[in-house]
Order: sequence, then structure tokens, then C-alpha cells
Amino acid sequence: MPKPILRFRDGKFKILCFSDTHYNGNGASAETNPKDKDWARRPHYLPDLQGWIGGAADAVQPDLVVFCGDNVHYVSDPEAQAKAIRELLQPIADRGLPFAAVTGNHDAQQREGLSREAFMKVFAEADTSLTLTHPEGTEIGEIAGHSTYTVPIYASGTEEAAEGTVPAFNLWFFDNNNYGGEPDGSGTASDTRILWYKSLAADYAEKNGGKPIPAASFFHCPPDETYQLMRKIKGFRSFSALGHGDFDRKQWWTLDKSNPTVEGLLMEPVCCDGMKGLFRAFVEAGDMKLAMFGHDHGNTFSGVTERIRLMYCGDASMRLDGQRKQASVLTIDENTADITRERIYYFNDVAGALPECLSWTAYISNEGLQYTLRGNPLLTLRELTTATLSLLWKKAPRSVWGWMFPAKFGQ
Ligand SMILES: [Fe+2]
Repeated sequence: MPKPILRFRDGKFKILCFSDTHYNGNGASAETNPKDKDWARRPHYLPDLQGWIGGAADAVQPDLVVFCGDNVHYVSDPEAQAKAIRELLQPIADRGLPFAAVTGNHDAQQREGLSREAFMKVFAEADTSLTLTHPEGTEIGEIAGHSTYTVPIYASGTEEAAEGTVPAFNLWFFDNNNYGGEPDGSGTASDTRILWYKSLAADYAEKNGGKPIPAASFFHCPPDETYQLMRKIKGFRSFSALGHGDFDRKQWWTLDKSNPTVEGLLMEPVCCDGMKGLFRAFVEAGDMKLAMFGHDHGNTFSGVTERIRLMYCGDASMRLDGQRKQASVLTIDENTADITRERIYYFNDVAGALPECLSWTAYISNEGLQYTLRGNPLLTLRELTTATLSLLWKKAPRSVWGWMFPAKFGQ
């Protein structure tokens, strides 16, 4: 069966993006992972997960669905892993929707499970999948990673993508490379992902009369430049987080609201890894309008720096540890090539009330105070109390920070 060809519809193109679903195969590896965290052993209530993904797809009617990494996690057995991937994708397959996926740091993490290549092959096998384990025209292993590829979107009204047709918009997908730990995936000058991107983007621009083809990209971990959307502050305050990775772990940061393009929430440290050098390549190529990523589950903020919008997708996880279960909807305008976040959907927007086991999901947030109150009032009280104490102390110990936000750092 030929793979779907993407085109604008009535001048628009809609993408529904899920990140960090962390589907555990309904607790498939409970017995083989006795030491795993409690949530990893529990069922993920498959009907709720599929209702959430399918419900969001029905509400949005997207032209493409994207899975932005950490898609399946804590499933050890190769067969159970493949089954879990198919279960995650079932609501998309049932609706015949095209989709594309990239790997996160937790995908194919289990040593006894599928290799990263075999793992991504399961994503690639579905009839409507546009996922590739390596870029077209290259050999496996030539480009570092196992989910680095590009998908073109053609102009409205084009019947077929004839040979040589220039796309109206390009979507780029990059393997996070398991924290950059693989050869030639280090973000240095020899990073084959970056060399491949720069070369192909230049080819596209040449075919387009020297003008870069507007583009968006999807990968798992935020780039270092995400810190350009934040500013340093003295001590803890609401909606602040400590630095991480190459950034001082004792320094508090908050969103830079003097940048008028910054929107959304900072809820936990920004953990950059595995994507070094990519943003600079985007700036040089001049085609990239947006970079979408996940990894830091509570963060949803976005903002423009150096003419590129960096954007957290927000996490879609059904795990039982206080995640918000959200998905971002992007719209591309064919005339202007602008790509914007239309809205964020939450589980209870499309799939009814949160299941009983999940109903304690609660956060302190600007936009989410009302949402917070839908959670267990006792836990809301706990978080409000913690925030108040933290403000009084001006500097919250890390243990308190972790207690406030059960999402673990760098997940
Ligand atoms: Fe994650």
C-alpha cells in the first residue's frame, strides 16, 4: 500500500502532537520488572489511553499525528514492546490517519528489549505511517539515529507529488540519539544528522529558486537555546526552575516575559541533551519556523528566539504520577507559512472525566488553577501549602521541589 502524501487542505494543515505517552503495555512487564517504580508495574488502563488518543483525534481531525518520543516505556520483552506500540497506534490506525514518530530517551531503553532500529520499524510498518528509521536515499547507519527523516507537505490542489515537485512546507524529524551517546550523534561538526539536514535543506532551497522552504521540526529533548526564553532570578519563586545539564544547577530561572512571544508554563527544569548544534544549523539554513519537543513533562511554554519558535508539546502520559495528559494542536497557514499552536487539549476535554485512579492530577498553574481544583482537594491543599512555604523560605530545597512536582527531573 502506498504511503500517504500530505497536502494542505483549504489553505490549512493541522498537526496533533502527543509527547511522552510512556505507554507501558498495560503493565506487560510487571513480573519481569519487580524493581521498577510502582507506576511502571500497574496497568495503564488501555481503554482510557486509546480513548484519549482517539478522542483528541476526533476533536481535532488532524492531517497528521506526531508522537514526539518516550512513546513506549518499561516494556522489556520484544514481543510485548511491539504489541504495546501497536496498541498505542491503534486509535490512529482505526481512523486511517497519517502519523510520524521519533524516539525519546526512554524508547527502546530496556537492554533485553528491541533494538532502537527494530523498535522504530514497528512504528514504520503501519499503512498510514510516514515514520522512517533512516532518511530516504541513505543506508541504515549512514545517518546517526533511527528516526531521522523528513516529510514534505505539498500545496493544496496538487493531485500528485510529481517527480521534482517542490514541497510547500517541510517537516523534519530527528532522533534524539539516546542523549547523544551514539557515534556521530554528538552535536559536534561531525554529527551526521546535522550534516544531512544542512545539505538537504540547501538542496530544497536551490530547487525553490534559492528560497528556503519553510519548515517545522520534531525531536524529543529541548535544545540549549530554550534557555534564551528564560532569565536568571535570585532564589525560588512561583513558576521557576533550577538549571540543568550544562546550566548551573544552583541557578533559578523563570520565563522571560519581556519577550512578548513567550507563552505557556515553566513547571520543571529544562533538561537539554542530545540535540546540540541543531538549533545553530536551523538558524544558518533559514528555513525553520518551529521546533517542537517534549521530555520535561510539566513544561508547555514556547517562545521565539532568533526567529525560530521553540515549543514544548506538553506530556500525554497516562502514568499515575500527576501528569496533566495534554496534546498540542498546530496549524500551518499555507499562504503565510506561519505555524502556530491552536490550543492544547487535555484528557478530560475529549475523553470524559479522568479515570478514578488518575483523578488526583493537580497542579498549581496560571491557567490551571481551575483545572487544579478538579483534582483531589487534599492534594491541591498540599501543593498550595508547599508553594507558600517555599515562597517564605525564598529557596526551596530540592526535596520539596520534587515533592511539589511528582514528575521526576529529566523524564
Ligand atoms: Fe518522558
